[in-house]
Amino acid sequence: MARILITSAIPYINGIKHLGNLIGSQLPADLYARYLRGRGNEVMFLCATDEHGTPAELAAAKAGKPVAEYCAEMYGVQADIAKRFGLSFDHFGRSSSEQNKKLTQHFAGKLDEAELIREVTEKQVYSNADGRFLPDRYIEGTCPNCGYERARGDQCENCTKQLDPTDLIEPRSAISGSTDLEVRETKHLYLRQSAMKDQLDAWIDSKKDWPILTTSIAKKWLHDGDGLQDRGITRDLDWGVPVKKGDQDWPGMEGKVFYVWFDAPIEYIACAKEWADANGKTDADWERWWRTDKGADDVRYVQFMGKDNVPFHTLSFPATILGSGEPWKMVDHLKSFNYLNYDGGQFSTSQGRGVFMDQALDILPADFWRWWLLSHAPESSDSEFTWENFQQSVNKDLADVLGNFVSRITKFCRSKFGEAVPEGGSYGDREQALIDELTKRVRAYEGHMEAMEVRKSAQELRAIWVAGNEYLQAAAPWSTFKEDPEQAAAQVRLGLNLIRLYAVLSAPFIPETTAKMLSAMNTSDTNWPDDVAAALNALPAGHAFTVPDVLFAKITDEQREDWQSRFSGLRD
Ligand code: 2FM
Ligand code: ZN
Repeated sequence: MARILITSAIPYINGIKHLGNLIGSQLPADLYARYLRGRGNEVMFLCATDEHGTPAELAAAKAGKPVAEYCAEMYGVQADIAKRFGLSFDHFGRSSSEQNKKLTQHFAGKLDEAELIREVTEKQVYSNADGRFLPDRYIEGTCPNCGYERARGDQCENCTKQLDPTDLIEPRSAISGSTDLEVRETKHLYLRQSAMKDQLDAWIDSKKDWPILTTSIAKKWLHDGDGLQDRGITRDLDWGVPVKKGDQDWPGMEGKVFYVWFDAPIEYIACAKEWADANGKTDADWERWWRTDKGADDVRYVQFMGKDNVPFHTLSFPATILGSGEPWKMVDHLKSFNYLNYDGGQFSTSQGRGVFMDQALDILPADFWRWWLLSHAPESSDSEFTWENFQQSVNKDLADVLGNFVSRITKFCRSKFGEAVPEGGSYGDREQALIDELTKRVRAYEGHMEAMEVRKSAQELRAIWVAGNEYLQAAAPWSTFKEDPEQAAAQVRLGLNLIRLYAVLSAPFIPETTAKMLSAMNTSDTNWPDDVAAALNALPAGHAFTVPDVLFAKITDEQREDWQSRFSGLRD
Protein backbone atom coordinates (compact mmCIF):
# COMPACT_ATOMS: atom_id res chain seq x y z
CA MET A 1 0.00 0.00 0.00
CA ALA A 2 1.34 3.39 -0.99
CA ARG A 3 0.46 6.91 0.14
CA ILE A 4 -0.47 9.33 -2.60
CA LEU A 5 -1.17 13.03 -2.26
CA ILE A 6 -3.26 14.43 -5.12
CA THR A 7 -4.14 18.06 -5.74
CA SER A 8 -6.23 19.58 -8.48
CA ALA A 9 -5.65 23.20 -9.55
CA ILE A 10 -7.96 25.22 -7.36
CA PRO A 11 -10.79 26.89 -9.34
CA TYR A 12 -11.36 30.63 -9.16
CA ILE A 13 -14.27 31.61 -6.99
CA ASN A 14 -15.82 33.94 -9.57
CA GLY A 15 -18.65 31.84 -10.90
CA ILE A 16 -19.64 28.30 -11.68
CA LYS A 17 -17.08 26.39 -13.73
CA HIS A 18 -17.70 25.08 -17.24
CA LEU A 19 -17.05 21.56 -18.48
CA GLY A 20 -13.70 22.64 -19.95
CA ASN A 21 -12.51 23.66 -16.48
CA LEU A 22 -13.80 20.39 -15.06
CA ILE A 23 -11.92 18.11 -17.46
CA GLY A 24 -8.80 20.30 -17.20
CA SER A 25 -8.00 19.24 -13.65
CA GLN A 26 -10.66 18.24 -11.10
CA LEU A 27 -12.24 15.35 -12.97
CA PRO A 28 -9.07 13.52 -14.04
CA ALA A 29 -7.69 14.06 -10.53
CA ASP A 30 -10.84 12.44 -9.16
CA LEU A 31 -10.48 9.52 -11.57
CA TYR A 32 -6.94 8.93 -10.35
CA ALA A 33 -7.88 9.29 -6.67
CA ARG A 34 -10.77 6.86 -6.98
CA TYR A 35 -8.64 4.34 -8.85
CA LEU A 36 -5.86 4.43 -6.28
CA ARG A 37 -8.28 4.11 -3.38
CA GLY A 38 -9.93 1.18 -5.17
CA ARG A 39 -6.54 -0.52 -5.30
CA GLY A 40 -6.21 -0.16 -1.54
CA ASN A 41 -3.82 2.79 -1.38
CA GLU A 42 -4.02 5.60 1.15
CA VAL A 43 -5.00 8.73 -0.74
CA MET A 44 -5.28 12.38 0.27
CA PHE A 45 -7.13 14.27 -2.47
CA LEU A 46 -7.33 18.03 -1.94
CA CYS A 47 -8.93 20.92 -3.76
CA ALA A 48 -10.23 24.36 -2.79
CA THR A 49 -11.59 27.60 -4.16
CA ASP A 50 -9.12 30.29 -5.25
CA GLU A 51 -10.71 33.34 -3.66
CA HIS A 52 -8.35 36.30 -3.80
CA GLY A 53 -7.34 38.86 -6.38
CA THR A 54 -9.15 41.26 -8.67
CA PRO A 55 -11.41 38.68 -10.38
CA ALA A 56 -13.08 37.94 -7.02
CA GLU A 57 -13.40 41.66 -6.23
CA LEU A 58 -14.90 42.39 -9.63
CA ALA A 59 -17.35 39.50 -9.53
CA ALA A 60 -18.51 40.56 -6.06
CA ALA A 61 -18.96 44.14 -7.24
CA LYS A 62 -21.00 42.89 -10.20
CA ALA A 63 -23.17 40.85 -7.85
CA GLY A 64 -23.52 43.92 -5.60
CA LYS A 65 -22.18 42.07 -2.55
CA PRO A 66 -19.30 42.52 -0.14
CA VAL A 67 -16.48 40.35 -1.41
CA ALA A 68 -16.27 38.12 1.70
CA GLU A 69 -19.99 37.43 1.52
CA TYR A 70 -19.82 36.75 -2.22
CA CYS A 71 -16.96 34.28 -1.73
CA ALA A 72 -18.70 32.45 1.11
CA GLU A 73 -21.80 32.04 -1.03
CA MET A 74 -19.95 30.93 -4.15
CA TYR A 75 -17.89 28.50 -2.10
CA GLY A 76 -21.15 26.85 -1.02
CA VAL A 77 -22.34 26.69 -4.62
CA GLN A 78 -19.09 25.22 -5.93
CA ALA A 79 -18.81 22.70 -3.10
CA ASP A 80 -22.35 21.49 -3.76
CA ILE A 81 -21.79 21.08 -7.49
CA ALA A 82 -18.50 19.29 -6.92
CA LYS A 83 -20.28 16.83 -4.68
CA ARG A 84 -23.05 16.26 -7.21
CA PHE A 85 -20.42 15.56 -9.86
CA GLY A 86 -18.95 12.89 -7.58
CA LEU A 87 -15.65 14.71 -7.02
CA SER A 88 -14.32 12.76 -4.07
CA PHE A 89 -12.11 15.35 -2.38
CA ASP A 90 -10.95 14.44 1.08
CA HIS A 91 -11.31 18.14 1.69
CA PHE A 92 -12.53 21.07 -0.38
CA GLY A 93 -10.98 24.12 1.22
CA ARG A 94 -10.83 27.87 0.71
CA SER A 95 -7.73 29.91 -0.06
CA SER A 96 -9.22 32.65 2.14
CA SER A 97 -9.09 30.35 5.18
CA GLU A 98 -7.33 31.38 8.37
CA GLN A 99 -5.01 28.40 7.88
CA ASN A 100 -3.89 29.67 4.48
CA LYS A 101 -3.49 33.22 5.75
CA LYS A 102 -1.14 32.01 8.51
CA LEU A 103 0.83 29.71 6.23
CA THR A 104 1.20 32.30 3.47
CA GLN A 105 2.53 34.82 5.98
CA HIS A 106 4.79 32.11 7.38
CA PHE A 107 6.30 31.41 3.95
CA ALA A 108 6.83 35.12 3.32
CA GLY A 109 8.65 35.38 6.65
CA LYS A 110 10.91 32.44 5.81
CA LEU A 111 11.68 33.81 2.36
CA ASP A 112 12.55 37.14 3.93
CA GLU A 113 14.86 35.46 6.47
CA ALA A 114 16.59 33.74 3.56
CA GLU A 115 17.05 37.19 1.96
CA LEU A 116 15.02 36.15 -1.02
CA ILE A 117 12.70 39.13 -0.90
CA ARG A 118 13.52 42.65 -1.99
CA GLU A 119 11.49 45.84 -1.89
CA VAL A 120 10.87 47.74 -5.10
CA THR A 121 9.41 51.22 -5.41
CA GLU A 122 7.04 51.60 -8.34
CA LYS A 123 4.85 54.29 -9.76
CA GLN A 124 1.18 53.40 -9.95
CA VAL A 125 -2.07 55.17 -10.68
CA TYR A 126 -4.11 56.04 -7.61
CA SER A 127 -7.81 56.93 -7.77
CA ASN A 128 -8.83 59.48 -5.14
CA ALA A 129 -12.52 58.81 -5.66
CA ASP A 130 -12.10 55.04 -5.24
CA GLY A 131 -9.53 55.42 -2.49
CA ARG A 132 -7.26 52.80 -4.05
CA PHE A 133 -4.51 52.04 -6.51
CA LEU A 134 -5.79 50.82 -9.83
CA PRO A 135 -4.33 47.82 -11.64
CA ASP A 136 -3.54 48.71 -15.28
CA ARG A 137 -6.63 47.10 -16.66
CA TYR A 138 -8.85 49.09 -14.33
CA ILE A 139 -7.87 52.30 -16.04
CA GLU A 140 -9.67 53.32 -19.22
CA GLY A 141 -9.15 56.19 -21.61
CA THR A 142 -8.70 57.19 -25.22
CA CYS A 143 -6.07 55.33 -27.22
CA PRO A 144 -3.27 57.66 -28.37
CA ASN A 145 -2.79 55.46 -31.42
CA CYS A 146 -6.30 55.00 -32.87
CA GLY A 147 -8.56 57.24 -30.81
CA TYR A 148 -10.67 54.35 -29.45
CA GLU A 149 -12.36 55.71 -26.35
CA ARG A 150 -12.47 52.58 -24.21
CA ALA A 151 -8.83 51.51 -24.37
CA ARG A 152 -7.53 49.82 -21.23
CA GLY A 153 -4.39 50.76 -19.34
CA ASP A 154 -2.56 47.67 -20.52
CA GLN A 155 -3.73 47.42 -24.12
CA CYS A 156 -6.07 48.95 -26.70
CA GLU A 157 -8.63 46.35 -27.68
CA ASN A 158 -9.32 48.16 -30.93
CA CYS A 159 -5.84 48.49 -32.45
CA THR A 160 -4.10 45.97 -30.10
CA LYS A 161 -1.34 48.44 -29.19
CA GLN A 162 0.28 47.68 -25.85
CA LEU A 163 -0.09 50.65 -23.56
CA ASP A 164 0.99 52.07 -20.26
CA PRO A 165 -1.78 53.69 -18.22
CA THR A 166 0.10 57.00 -18.54
CA ASP A 167 -0.21 56.82 -22.37
CA LEU A 168 -4.01 57.10 -22.21
CA ILE A 169 -5.69 60.37 -23.11
CA GLU A 170 -8.22 61.43 -20.46
CA PRO A 171 -7.71 58.41 -18.26
CA ARG A 172 -10.48 57.40 -15.88
CA SER A 173 -11.18 54.70 -13.33
CA ALA A 174 -12.96 51.67 -14.78
CA ILE A 175 -14.53 51.14 -11.38
CA SER A 176 -16.14 54.54 -10.74
CA GLY A 177 -15.47 56.44 -13.97
CA SER A 178 -13.68 59.12 -11.93
CA THR A 179 -10.95 61.15 -13.66
CA ASP A 180 -9.48 62.27 -10.35
CA LEU A 181 -6.39 60.10 -10.77
CA GLU A 182 -2.78 60.68 -9.86
CA VAL A 183 0.48 58.78 -10.11
CA ARG A 184 1.80 57.80 -6.72
CA GLU A 185 4.80 55.86 -5.58
CA THR A 186 4.10 52.53 -3.98
CA LYS A 187 6.38 49.85 -2.58
CA HIS A 188 6.10 46.16 -3.42
CA LEU A 189 7.82 42.95 -2.46
CA TYR A 190 9.59 40.91 -5.11
CA LEU A 191 10.56 37.29 -4.74
CA ARG A 192 14.14 36.88 -5.97
CA GLN A 193 13.43 33.90 -8.17
CA SER A 194 16.49 34.73 -10.28
CA ALA A 195 18.67 33.80 -7.29
CA MET A 196 17.08 30.35 -7.28
CA LYS A 197 17.50 29.65 -10.96
CA ASP A 198 20.21 26.98 -10.60
CA GLN A 199 18.39 25.24 -7.80
CA LEU A 200 15.17 25.13 -9.84
CA ASP A 201 17.04 24.01 -12.93
CA ALA A 202 18.60 21.10 -11.04
CA TRP A 203 15.27 20.17 -9.51
CA ILE A 204 13.56 20.08 -12.90
CA ASP A 205 16.46 18.05 -14.36
CA SER A 206 15.90 15.48 -11.65
CA LYS A 207 12.35 14.86 -12.92
CA LYS A 208 13.20 12.31 -15.57
CA ASP A 209 9.68 11.00 -16.07
CA TRP A 210 7.92 14.32 -16.57
CA PRO A 211 6.15 14.85 -19.88
CA ILE A 212 8.12 16.94 -22.35
CA LEU A 213 5.28 19.48 -22.50
CA THR A 214 5.78 20.17 -18.79
CA THR A 215 9.59 20.39 -18.71
CA SER A 216 9.80 22.39 -21.93
CA ILE A 217 7.47 25.06 -20.53
CA ALA A 218 9.55 25.25 -17.36
CA LYS A 219 12.86 25.32 -19.23
CA LYS A 220 11.65 28.04 -21.54
CA TRP A 221 10.91 30.32 -18.60
CA LEU A 222 14.23 29.45 -16.98
CA HIS A 223 16.41 30.11 -20.00
CA ASP A 224 14.67 32.28 -22.58
CA GLY A 225 15.48 35.96 -22.85
CA ASP A 226 16.70 37.31 -19.54
CA GLY A 227 15.96 34.04 -17.79
CA LEU A 228 13.87 33.68 -14.69
CA GLN A 229 12.58 37.07 -13.57
CA ASP A 230 12.01 38.21 -10.01
CA ARG A 231 8.32 38.36 -9.34
CA GLY A 232 6.13 40.87 -7.56
CA ILE A 233 4.27 39.04 -4.79
CA THR A 234 2.25 41.92 -3.32
CA ARG A 235 -0.62 44.08 -4.54
CA ASP A 236 -2.41 47.25 -3.52
CA LEU A 237 -5.80 45.65 -2.95
CA ASP A 238 -8.13 45.29 0.01
CA TRP A 239 -9.06 41.66 -0.50
CA GLY A 240 -6.36 39.07 0.09
CA VAL A 241 -3.86 37.83 2.66
CA PRO A 242 -2.43 40.88 4.52
CA VAL A 243 1.31 41.25 3.99
CA LYS A 244 3.16 40.15 7.12
CA LYS A 245 6.31 38.17 7.89
CA GLY A 246 5.05 35.36 10.06
CA ASP A 247 2.95 37.12 12.69
CA GLN A 248 5.05 40.31 12.53
CA ASP A 249 3.98 43.46 10.72
CA TRP A 250 5.98 44.35 7.63
CA PRO A 251 6.96 48.01 7.86
CA GLY A 252 5.96 49.89 4.74
CA MET A 253 3.54 47.16 3.62
CA GLU A 254 0.54 48.28 5.60
CA GLY A 255 -2.74 47.88 3.75
CA LYS A 256 -1.25 45.61 1.09
CA VAL A 257 -2.01 41.99 0.36
CA PHE A 258 -0.10 39.12 -1.25
CA TYR A 259 -0.63 38.51 -4.96
CA VAL A 260 -3.25 35.80 -5.55
CA TRP A 261 -0.76 33.53 -7.33
CA PHE A 262 1.48 33.64 -4.25
CA ASP A 263 -1.14 32.40 -1.79
CA ALA A 264 -3.16 30.08 -4.10
CA PRO A 265 -0.68 27.18 -4.32
CA ILE A 266 0.14 27.51 -0.63
CA GLU A 267 -3.52 26.59 -0.13
CA TYR A 268 -2.65 23.07 -1.34
CA ILE A 269 -0.79 22.72 1.96
CA ALA A 270 -3.14 24.79 4.10
CA CYS A 271 -6.04 22.71 2.80
CA ALA A 272 -4.58 19.66 4.53
CA LYS A 273 -4.56 21.58 7.79
CA GLU A 274 -8.16 22.66 7.13
CA TRP A 275 -8.96 18.97 6.65
CA ALA A 276 -7.30 18.09 9.97
CA ASP A 277 -8.99 20.93 11.83
CA ALA A 278 -12.40 20.07 10.39
CA ASN A 279 -12.11 16.40 11.30
CA GLY A 280 -10.72 16.57 14.82
CA LYS A 281 -7.25 15.48 13.70
CA THR A 282 -3.87 16.67 14.93
CA ASP A 283 -1.17 18.62 13.13
CA ALA A 284 0.82 15.40 12.88
CA ASP A 285 -2.06 13.93 10.84
CA TRP A 286 -1.73 16.48 8.06
CA GLU A 287 1.99 17.02 8.34
CA ARG A 288 2.64 13.39 7.50
CA TRP A 289 1.40 14.32 4.02
CA TRP A 290 3.38 17.50 3.63
CA ARG A 291 6.51 17.56 5.77
CA THR A 292 9.30 15.27 4.69
CA ASP A 293 10.71 15.43 8.24
CA LYS A 294 7.37 14.17 9.55
CA GLY A 295 6.67 11.17 7.37
CA ALA A 296 5.97 12.66 3.94
CA ASP A 297 9.20 11.37 2.43
CA ASP A 298 7.38 8.23 1.35
CA VAL A 299 4.42 10.12 -0.12
CA ARG A 300 4.04 10.39 -3.89
CA TYR A 301 2.64 13.81 -4.77
CA VAL A 302 0.76 14.26 -8.07
CA GLN A 303 -0.71 17.54 -9.33
CA PHE A 304 -3.39 17.97 -12.03
CA MET A 305 -3.86 21.20 -14.00
CA GLY A 306 -4.52 22.91 -17.31
CA LYS A 307 -1.48 23.81 -19.42
CA ASP A 308 -1.74 27.53 -18.62
CA ASN A 309 -1.02 26.71 -14.97
CA VAL A 310 2.22 24.82 -15.63
CA PRO A 311 4.71 27.72 -15.12
CA PHE A 312 3.25 28.53 -11.72
CA HIS A 313 3.59 24.93 -10.60
CA THR A 314 7.03 24.19 -12.07
CA LEU A 315 8.69 27.48 -11.10
CA SER A 316 6.83 29.94 -8.85
CA PHE A 317 5.46 27.53 -6.27
CA PRO A 318 8.65 25.43 -6.15
CA ALA A 319 10.59 28.70 -5.68
CA THR A 320 8.42 29.49 -2.66
CA ILE A 321 8.98 26.05 -1.17
CA LEU A 322 12.69 25.72 -1.93
CA GLY A 323 13.30 29.29 -0.83
CA SER A 324 11.71 28.67 2.55
CA GLY A 325 14.52 26.24 3.33
CA GLU A 326 11.97 24.04 5.10
CA PRO A 327 11.34 20.36 4.38
CA TRP A 328 8.03 20.60 2.51
CA LYS A 329 7.00 17.87 0.11
CA MET A 330 7.48 18.86 -3.52
CA VAL A 331 5.55 17.61 -6.51
CA ASP A 332 6.65 14.25 -7.96
CA HIS A 333 4.45 14.16 -11.02
CA LEU A 334 2.58 16.85 -12.82
CA LYS A 335 -0.22 15.93 -15.20
CA SER A 336 -1.30 18.78 -17.44
CA PHE A 337 -4.10 19.10 -19.99
CA ASN A 338 -4.79 20.98 -23.18
CA TYR A 339 -8.10 22.76 -23.72
CA LEU A 340 -11.56 21.42 -24.41
CA ASN A 341 -13.39 23.54 -26.98
CA TYR A 342 -17.14 23.94 -27.33
CA ASP A 343 -18.97 23.38 -30.58
CA GLY A 344 -16.65 25.21 -32.94
CA GLY A 345 -15.37 27.82 -30.46
CA GLN A 346 -14.02 28.15 -26.98
CA PHE A 347 -15.67 27.63 -23.64
CA SER A 348 -15.64 31.04 -21.98
CA THR A 349 -16.45 31.95 -18.40
CA SER A 350 -16.47 35.69 -19.03
CA GLN A 351 -18.74 35.39 -22.05
CA GLY A 352 -20.84 32.55 -20.62
CA ARG A 353 -20.22 30.34 -23.65
CA GLY A 354 -20.62 26.56 -23.39
CA VAL A 355 -22.15 24.25 -20.81
CA PHE A 356 -21.59 25.02 -17.13
CA MET A 357 -21.46 22.40 -14.40
CA ASP A 358 -24.84 23.27 -12.86
CA GLN A 359 -26.55 23.28 -16.27
CA ALA A 360 -25.00 19.93 -17.17
CA LEU A 361 -26.46 18.33 -14.04
CA ASP A 362 -29.85 19.89 -14.72
CA ILE A 363 -30.17 17.90 -17.91
CA LEU A 364 -28.38 14.60 -17.24
CA PRO A 365 -26.83 12.65 -14.35
CA ALA A 366 -23.14 13.19 -13.60
CA ASP A 367 -21.99 9.84 -14.99
CA PHE A 368 -23.03 10.72 -18.56
CA TRP A 369 -20.76 13.77 -18.40
CA ARG A 370 -17.99 12.07 -16.53
CA TRP A 371 -17.80 9.31 -19.12
CA TRP A 372 -17.83 11.59 -22.12
CA LEU A 373 -15.38 14.10 -20.69
CA LEU A 374 -12.89 11.53 -19.47
CA SER A 375 -13.05 9.43 -22.62
CA HIS A 376 -12.40 12.61 -24.65
CA ALA A 377 -9.90 14.26 -22.30
CA PRO A 378 -7.72 16.84 -24.10
CA GLU A 379 -4.46 15.03 -23.44
CA SER A 380 -2.22 15.11 -26.48
CA SER A 381 -4.02 18.04 -28.08
CA ASP A 382 -7.09 20.22 -27.62
CA SER A 383 -10.38 18.35 -28.04
CA GLU A 384 -13.89 19.44 -28.83
CA PHE A 385 -17.32 18.94 -27.34
CA THR A 386 -20.11 18.61 -29.87
CA TRP A 387 -23.64 17.51 -29.07
CA GLU A 388 -23.59 14.90 -31.85
CA ASN A 389 -20.46 13.30 -30.51
CA PHE A 390 -21.81 13.42 -26.97
CA GLN A 391 -25.07 11.75 -27.97
CA GLN A 392 -23.30 9.14 -30.02
CA SER A 393 -20.71 8.07 -27.46
CA VAL A 394 -23.09 8.08 -24.54
CA ASN A 395 -25.69 6.05 -26.40
CA LYS A 396 -23.16 3.59 -27.73
CA ASP A 397 -20.77 3.11 -24.85
CA LEU A 398 -23.04 3.54 -21.87
CA ALA A 399 -26.47 2.47 -23.10
CA ASP A 400 -25.73 -0.11 -25.83
CA VAL A 401 -22.63 -1.69 -24.37
CA LEU A 402 -22.65 -1.48 -20.57
CA GLY A 403 -26.31 -0.79 -19.78
CA ASN A 404 -27.57 -3.36 -22.21
CA PHE A 405 -25.27 -6.04 -20.88
CA VAL A 406 -26.48 -5.55 -17.32
CA SER A 407 -30.10 -5.46 -18.33
CA ARG A 408 -29.96 -8.53 -20.58
CA ILE A 409 -28.25 -10.87 -18.20
CA THR A 410 -30.24 -9.92 -15.10
CA LYS A 411 -33.57 -10.12 -16.92
CA PHE A 412 -32.75 -13.42 -18.57
CA CYS A 413 -31.71 -14.92 -15.24
CA ARG A 414 -34.87 -13.69 -13.55
CA SER A 415 -37.07 -15.22 -16.23
CA LYS A 416 -35.38 -18.64 -16.34
CA PHE A 417 -33.74 -19.18 -12.95
CA GLY A 418 -35.22 -16.54 -10.66
CA GLU A 419 -33.48 -13.70 -8.85
CA ALA A 420 -30.50 -15.60 -7.51
CA VAL A 421 -27.18 -16.66 -9.06
CA PRO A 422 -27.99 -20.04 -10.70
CA GLU A 423 -26.37 -23.28 -9.69
CA GLY A 424 -24.96 -26.03 -11.91
CA GLY A 425 -22.59 -26.52 -14.82
CA SER A 426 -19.04 -25.24 -14.90
CA TYR A 427 -16.91 -22.78 -16.83
CA GLY A 428 -15.45 -24.30 -20.02
CA ASP A 429 -13.18 -23.23 -22.90
CA ARG A 430 -15.25 -20.26 -23.95
CA GLU A 431 -15.23 -18.94 -20.40
CA GLN A 432 -11.49 -19.57 -20.09
CA ALA A 433 -10.88 -17.62 -23.30
CA LEU A 434 -12.86 -14.72 -21.87
CA ILE A 435 -10.94 -14.91 -18.58
CA ASP A 436 -7.65 -14.81 -20.52
CA GLU A 437 -8.74 -11.83 -22.56
CA LEU A 438 -10.05 -9.97 -19.52
CA THR A 439 -6.88 -10.70 -17.57
CA LYS A 440 -4.82 -9.14 -20.34
CA ARG A 441 -7.12 -6.15 -20.60
CA VAL A 442 -7.42 -5.55 -16.85
CA ARG A 443 -3.60 -5.51 -16.58
CA ALA A 444 -3.45 -3.02 -19.47
CA TYR A 445 -6.15 -0.90 -17.83
CA GLU A 446 -4.16 -0.82 -14.58
CA GLY A 447 -1.07 0.28 -16.50
CA HIS A 448 -2.91 3.14 -18.21
CA MET A 449 -4.54 4.27 -15.00
CA GLU A 450 -1.27 4.26 -13.12
CA ALA A 451 0.31 6.27 -15.93
CA MET A 452 -2.65 8.70 -15.81
CA GLU A 453 -3.37 8.00 -19.48
CA VAL A 454 -7.00 8.99 -19.22
CA ARG A 455 -8.20 8.31 -22.77
CA LYS A 456 -6.36 5.03 -23.05
CA SER A 457 -7.87 3.94 -19.74
CA ALA A 458 -11.35 4.74 -21.02
CA GLN A 459 -10.72 2.84 -24.26
CA GLU A 460 -9.50 -0.21 -22.38
CA LEU A 461 -12.47 -0.12 -20.02
CA ARG A 462 -14.81 0.07 -22.95
CA ALA A 463 -13.06 -2.91 -24.54
CA ILE A 464 -13.57 -4.81 -21.28
CA TRP A 465 -17.32 -4.09 -21.46
CA VAL A 466 -17.39 -5.11 -25.13
CA ALA A 467 -15.67 -8.42 -24.35
CA GLY A 468 -18.50 -9.32 -21.98
CA ASN A 469 -21.12 -8.44 -24.57
CA GLU A 470 -19.38 -10.50 -27.21
CA TYR A 471 -19.16 -13.43 -24.85
CA LEU A 472 -22.85 -13.21 -24.10
CA GLN A 473 -23.66 -12.96 -27.77
CA ALA A 474 -21.56 -16.01 -28.61
CA ALA A 475 -22.51 -18.13 -25.58
CA ALA A 476 -26.19 -17.22 -26.09
CA PRO A 477 -27.54 -18.72 -22.85
CA TRP A 478 -31.07 -18.19 -24.19
CA SER A 479 -30.33 -20.87 -26.83
CA THR A 480 -28.14 -23.06 -24.63
CA PHE A 481 -30.94 -23.15 -22.08
CA LYS A 482 -33.12 -25.21 -24.37
CA GLU A 483 -30.64 -28.09 -24.70
CA ASP A 484 -28.40 -27.75 -21.68
CA PRO A 485 -29.84 -25.72 -18.79
CA GLU A 486 -26.80 -26.59 -16.61
CA GLN A 487 -24.43 -24.98 -19.05
CA ALA A 488 -26.74 -22.01 -19.42
CA ALA A 489 -26.67 -21.68 -15.63
CA ALA A 490 -22.86 -21.48 -15.68
CA GLN A 491 -22.97 -18.87 -18.45
CA VAL A 492 -25.45 -16.78 -16.54
CA ARG A 493 -23.45 -17.15 -13.34
CA LEU A 494 -20.45 -15.81 -15.15
CA GLY A 495 -22.50 -12.94 -16.59
CA LEU A 496 -23.79 -11.89 -13.18
CA ASN A 497 -20.28 -12.01 -11.78
CA LEU A 498 -19.15 -9.85 -14.67
CA ILE A 499 -21.57 -7.16 -13.49
CA ARG A 500 -19.80 -6.99 -10.16
CA LEU A 501 -16.42 -7.03 -11.87
CA TYR A 502 -17.48 -4.20 -14.19
CA ALA A 503 -18.77 -2.19 -11.26
CA VAL A 504 -15.42 -2.43 -9.50
CA LEU A 505 -13.39 -1.57 -12.60
CA SER A 506 -15.68 1.24 -13.77
CA ALA A 507 -16.16 2.98 -10.41
CA PRO A 508 -13.48 5.63 -11.02
CA PHE A 509 -15.31 6.73 -14.20
CA ILE A 510 -18.98 6.34 -13.32
CA PRO A 511 -19.31 6.02 -9.54
CA GLU A 512 -23.07 6.62 -9.25
CA THR A 513 -23.93 3.90 -11.73
CA THR A 514 -21.48 1.40 -10.33
CA ALA A 515 -23.03 1.89 -6.89
CA LYS A 516 -26.38 0.95 -8.46
CA MET A 517 -24.83 -2.10 -10.08
CA LEU A 518 -23.37 -3.29 -6.79
CA SER A 519 -26.62 -2.69 -5.01
CA ALA A 520 -28.54 -4.68 -7.64
CA MET A 521 -25.99 -7.45 -7.26
CA ASN A 522 -26.62 -7.20 -3.53
CA THR A 523 -22.94 -7.04 -2.69
CA SER A 524 -20.46 -4.71 -1.05
CA ASP A 525 -17.52 -6.75 -2.28
CA THR A 526 -15.45 -4.19 -4.16
CA ASN A 527 -12.25 -6.21 -4.20
CA TRP A 528 -10.07 -5.45 -7.17
CA PRO A 529 -9.80 -8.33 -9.68
CA ASP A 530 -6.13 -9.14 -9.18
CA ASP A 531 -7.19 -12.63 -10.20
CA VAL A 532 -9.92 -12.39 -12.84
CA ALA A 533 -10.87 -16.06 -12.62
CA ALA A 534 -11.41 -15.78 -8.87
CA ALA A 535 -13.30 -12.52 -9.32
CA LEU A 536 -15.71 -14.30 -11.65
CA ASN A 537 -16.63 -16.65 -8.83
CA ALA A 538 -17.11 -13.97 -6.19
CA LEU A 539 -20.91 -14.21 -6.24
CA PRO A 540 -21.68 -17.86 -5.43
CA ALA A 541 -24.64 -19.90 -6.63
CA GLY A 542 -27.73 -19.02 -4.62
CA HIS A 543 -26.66 -15.38 -4.06
CA ALA A 544 -29.78 -13.19 -4.42
CA PHE A 545 -29.85 -10.12 -6.68
CA THR A 546 -32.40 -7.75 -8.22
CA VAL A 547 -32.86 -6.44 -11.73
CA PRO A 548 -31.85 -2.76 -11.71
CA ASP A 549 -33.79 0.03 -13.42
CA VAL A 550 -32.43 1.17 -16.78
CA LEU A 551 -28.91 2.40 -16.06
CA PHE A 552 -28.55 4.80 -18.99
CA ALA A 553 -31.53 6.13 -20.93
CA LYS A 554 -30.54 6.95 -24.50
CA ILE A 555 -30.32 10.57 -25.57
CA THR A 556 -32.98 11.14 -28.24
CA ASP A 557 -32.52 13.31 -31.32
CA GLU A 558 -35.10 15.76 -30.00
CA GLN A 559 -33.23 16.13 -26.73
CA ARG A 560 -29.97 16.68 -28.58
CA GLU A 561 -31.50 19.35 -30.81
CA ASP A 562 -33.18 21.04 -27.90
CA TRP A 563 -29.94 21.23 -25.86
CA GLN A 564 -27.94 22.25 -28.87
CA SER A 565 -30.09 25.30 -29.41
CA ARG A 566 -30.51 26.01 -25.70
CA PHE A 567 -26.72 26.16 -25.25
CA SER A 568 -25.86 27.92 -28.49
CA GLY A 569 -26.06 31.40 -27.02
CA LEU A 570 -24.38 33.04 -24.08
CA ARG A 571 -25.35 32.64 -20.46
CA ASP A 572 -26.27 35.89 -18.63
O1 2FM B 1 -6.30 28.82 -13.33
C1 2FM B 1 -6.96 28.76 -12.31
O2 2FM B 1 -8.15 28.40 -12.30
C2 2FM B 1 -6.31 29.08 -10.98
N1 2FM B 1 -7.32 29.46 -10.03
C3 2FM B 1 -5.53 27.88 -10.53
C4 2FM B 1 -4.78 28.03 -9.27
S1 2FM B 1 -3.95 26.59 -8.95
C5 2FM B 1 -3.01 26.85 -7.64
F1 2FM B 1 -1.94 27.37 -7.80
F2 2FM B 1 -3.55 26.96 -6.57
ZN1 ZN C 1 -6.03 51.92 -30.24
